[in-house]
Amino acid sequence: MSSLIRFVAVLVLGLAVLAYGALWLVTQRLREWEEGDAQLRAELAVNSSRRAVVKRWESGNFAALSDILRDITRDERIRAIGACSTDGRLLAKTTDWPASLPCSGEALNPGGRVHVSAVPLDGEAAPLGTLVLIQDLTFLERREHAIRDFLLIAFGIFAAAASLVTVVAARLSWRGWSNQLRKLLLRGGAQPGQFQPLMRDVRELVEKLATEKEDLEGRGTWTPQRLKQTLERHLEGERVVIVANREPYIHQRGADGHITVKHPASGLVTALEPVMRACGGTWVAHGSGNADRETVDAKGRVRVPPGEESYAVRRVWLSAEEEAGYYYGFSNEGLWPLCHVAHARPTFRIDDWRHYQAINQRFADAVVEEVDVEDPIVLIQDYHFALAPKLIRERLPRATLITFWHIPWPNGERFGICPWATQLLEGLLGSSIVGFHTQQHCNNFIDAVDRLLEARIDRDQRVVVHHQRSTAVRAYPISIDWPNRWAKEAPSVAECRRSVFAELGLPANAQLGVGVDRLDYTKGIEERLLAVERLFERFPQYRGRFTFAQLAAPSRTAIERYSRLNDNVEALAARINQRFAEGRWKPIALLRAHHEPPDVFRYYRAADVTYVSSLHDGMNLVAKEYVAARDDERGVLVLSSFTGAARELTEALMVNPYDLEQASSALATALTMPEAEQVDRMRSMRALVAEYNVYRWAGRMLVDAARHRARERLSGRLTDRLLGLERTA
Ligand code: G6P
Repeated sequence: MSSLIRFVAVLVLGLAVLAYGALWLVTQRLREWEEGDAQLRAELAVNSSRRAVVKRWESGNFAALSDILRDITRDERIRAIGACSTDGRLLAKTTDWPASLPCSGEALNPGGRVHVSAVPLDGEAAPLGTLVLIQDLTFLERREHAIRDFLLIAFGIFAAAASLVTVVAARLSWRGWSNQLRKLLLRGGAQPGQFQPLMRDVRELVEKLATEKEDLEGRGTWTPQRLKQTLERHLEGERVVIVANREPYIHQRGADGHITVKHPASGLVTALEPVMRACGGTWVAHGSGNADRETVDAKGRVRVPPGEESYAVRRVWLSAEEEAGYYYGFSNEGLWPLCHVAHARPTFRIDDWRHYQAINQRFADAVVEEVDVEDPIVLIQDYHFALAPKLIRERLPRATLITFWHIPWPNGERFGICPWATQLLEGLLGSSIVGFHTQQHCNNFIDAVDRLLEARIDRDQRVVVHHQRSTAVRAYPISIDWPNRWAKEAPSVAECRRSVFAELGLPANAQLGVGVDRLDYTKGIEERLLAVERLFERFPQYRGRFTFAQLAAPSRTAIERYSRLNDNVEALAARINQRFAEGRWKPIALLRAHHEPPDVFRYYRAADVTYVSSLHDGMNLVAKEYVAARDDERGVLVLSSFTGAARELTEALMVNPYDLEQASSALATALTMPEAEQVDRMRSMRALVAEYNVYRWAGRMLVDAARHRARERLSGRLTDRLLGLERTA
């Protein structure tokens, strides 16, 4: 027995040494990568404001220079910046610049886990000096801890497995054991060799993590090709299955009897459609068009986009009563107002809830029909499907399920008013990962779980463990495709301006403001028109010169709150027009209709200013589309600070849409903004959206999914092997 204990002890010790060796190696690699990334980030940050910095520096306006430096430090990792002249004087700095830190002299070492980078700046005639950026690298520690924990757990499992194998073997008689060993050896699966595949698994996993890191943080922009390669590399090119209520292409038969294909107005569709074109796979959605049934095969499938046919839409059919209960009722009169702080009271009806349950089950069944492996990767979208993850998990226990919630998640107290709050949370916790746009929404979700369920919450790792299943909660800010398909296809800015001005009957010297939304009370359309009215009150010089065109797509009109909004917006536009109209000029053009993307982009490109005034919005992709549309780097974005986009598009003019004084001032500022400033702001926002595009969003989620699946497969293999061994024994 004592020799058995000695054997197990040596084994565990050996594994521990290996674990620490692997950990040391991975940590070293991580640090090397981060050094490179930090330097690149510093250069990118400086490049985005280089012109403005050089201008202020050359004119000797160091107070303004400090302001620009402060703007650069909005990047959460850049802690402080100092501008050092060529002769070593500190000319400007941000407030966090360490008092003791000189521009020259001994090595720059402000202490703590930071990276210091120096980016030289040249003026018109001569070098100006150097920008020194101090970056916060404390996040590295968190990453290293995560990898350390993972490696230790993996090695812990191996140590336990090895010990168990040894103990099981010891229970056999010496002779039986040696016979058993001989038999195993002959079959090539001997116990000493048993560790070989296990070690190989670990090596594979570590390599996989390393290459995933390269994929995520390697240099260069995410493109459809890169997303495709990522899929091939990590998911062996497997098909992606998406579940989303709204379909990307709607077949509609018009009054003339012809079938046309419509692109619905939906941020979700805007983001996911390019991803599906890049990845292929199946989009499971409600077949909502009046000609949808005529255009599918016997299994309810149709290949899209028309003419390109790169992926399939699987349509799920709903009766009018089911649609009223699941879609209009529970989803849009219950969950939508529950999740948005927009002063609409949620309505919860038991019949709607029953429909919601039944339709979630129907979509879960459709997913099971669409997948072809027992551990597929399924991306479940939005508030229509809070129950689906658990229902799919019951049928496919090994699936990797990523649920992305496209709208805000309210605080725990507010969420608790839903009579079925616990069922919704339990449904979502069937997911492997639940994603939101912002960390705030992740925190709210975790708080809701904390309040309403008996679950273990690891806030550091952002993981919830419920009924022995763990779900990671992560922020993935969504975006649009870049280069943007519709922007690429649009006519020149001058051409767009000519055609839009002709449509609106505007003279060439007029100024144009644009708003683009579904007619939804969360979008702040009334507040937007009131801000335009306030502009004309406070700045009469804009009367007769400025027109605001609101493209408003009718939405969810069967719901009373929406039809009321429709009437209110119409009445408000009519009142403002009546109040200020002069001759042929009207201040507001309310274009209440569905507009196809080419039209929307024409308006973006014709606009002097676009105003996004949401009262509460998960992300808001109109803001990002406007930025994508302006390849001329002109135009100004006025953006509500209550959108997820406000955290990224920091060069927009940020407003509280309820504050009409502030919003009208922002419109006036936009209309008088010098071209050079428009260019500076637009260029910087374009650089951000180009880098943080939707391929990166999908890539990050899919790599996380692949990583999750690798872990599951590894632990599945371990369990299978152990069970197999026990059986053989
Ligand atoms: C929001 C939701 C989407 C939805 C879109 C349009 O963006 O997050 O899931 O598709 O609104 O709404 P609709 O009800 O027309 O699909």
